[in-house]
Amino acid sequence: MTTYSVCTFKQQSTISGKWDSNLHPSDQKSTVLLRPPPPPRALPIPGSRSVSEAQWAGPRHVSPRGVSVASAPRLKLRARDVPQPARALPTFTRPFAPCPGPPVEMANSDRVVLALGGAGVVGSGVVKALLDRGFKVAVISRDSSRLEKLRAFVSPSTRDKLITLVGNVGSEEGAEEAKQALLKAAGKVTDVVSSLGFSWWQGGPPHTQPLKELVWVLETLLLSTFVSWKVFFPLVRDNPRCTYTFVTGGAGEKVLMPGTGFLTVGAASALAFCQVLREEYPDVPCKLNQLKINSGVAPPERMAPGYLNHLDLGEAVAALVERTNESHKIFSINGPDDLKTFLQ
Ligand SMILES: NC(=O)c1ccc[n+]([C@@H]2O[C@H](COP(=O)([O-])OP(=O)(O)OC[C@H]3O[C@@H](n4cnc5c(N)ncnc54)[C@H](OP(=O)(O)O)[C@@H]3O)[C@@H](O)[C@H]2O)c1
Repeated sequence: MTTYSVCTFKQQSTISGKWDSNLHPSDQKSTVLLRPPPPPRALPIPGSRSVSEAQWAGPRHVSPRGVSVASAPRLKLRARDVPQPARALPTFTRPFAPCPGPPVEMANSDRVVLALGGAGVVGSGVVKALLDRGFKVAVISRDSSRLEKLRAFVSPSTRDKLITLVGNVGSEEGAEEAKQALLKAAGKVTDVVSSLGFSWWQGGPPHTQPLKELVWVLETLLLSTFVSWKVFFPLVRDNPRCTYTFVTGGAGEKVLMPGTGFLTVGAASALAFCQVLREEYPDVPCKLNQLKINSGVAPPERMAPGYLNHLDLGEAVAALVERTNESHKIFSINGPDDLKTFLQ
């Protein structure tokens, strides 16, 4: 009987003509070798200081032996040559480093929440509520005047716990720079709430739109969310006391009204990104959650029928961040009553 040795980043295991259900399909494609199994040993990852870092840096792009996936055709036998039993797509599980976090709950006053988009309509409500609950909060905005407005908006007694930084988390360099400045100012980040994007878009039907408009929509709703997650998630990833919460919109599921199609495209891409994170990182210790808001959000002076008050929404998000007992959940908010469940 032929024996195949299948290597993953975290282990080598031997299988006899069957798939290892813990392997992602793309890993399977590039890592099946026709040879007898060597004795188990630790796998060196070229250019990486640790397996954990290498996993984070993107294991899909480098094979366990340092052979790039692009060079896989040199291998004598590829996955597609091996008969595959019909089965559901395997779950991609990846163990994370042991938790370096404290064994007991952190007091809110010891927690530093990075509110991405914290100067916006949704974010400002979240920032105020977090500060009122005793958290330290950091906000990065491209516009210093928005940060000044935010500082004036939060409760005066909590202002000294608000850290504001001018920066652009929509580019890799900008986000990296902002991270360094943040760590210098705050020392650490324990939680992230991401409400990047914009409140509304109704530019017209697709055939009337230039490409650059769609690029802008995607940059603002999706790319800034991705880039900032990539830069800031490693700060909280391995600690079960830490949280990363995405605020997304229900516009991603349907076209809300004529002329809002690009809003749907952008919001849908953000929803899809959150789904990808849940499924790619099922075991990550950090609590990874999503609030999907299926209505408009506004400050009290601009409320319309069916809208959520951003202060109430902020209270709910702050309560979710505080409790750190749920992960990989989508909380759909259809109206004010749904917010109450967070506060019970
Ligand atoms: N408002 C609603 O009715 C509503 C309803 C449902 C869901 N949502 C969700 O909530 C999210 C936020 O909406 P919102 O009403 O709060 O929008 P907003 O008032 O326009 O605020 C969005 C924030 O995102 C920030 N941002 C975007 N790109 C950035 C970048 N490259 N670098 C730094 N900051 C960046 C903006 O920061 P700057 O300060 O730098 O401009 C702004 O503060 C939306 O994406 C949507 O998914 C909103």
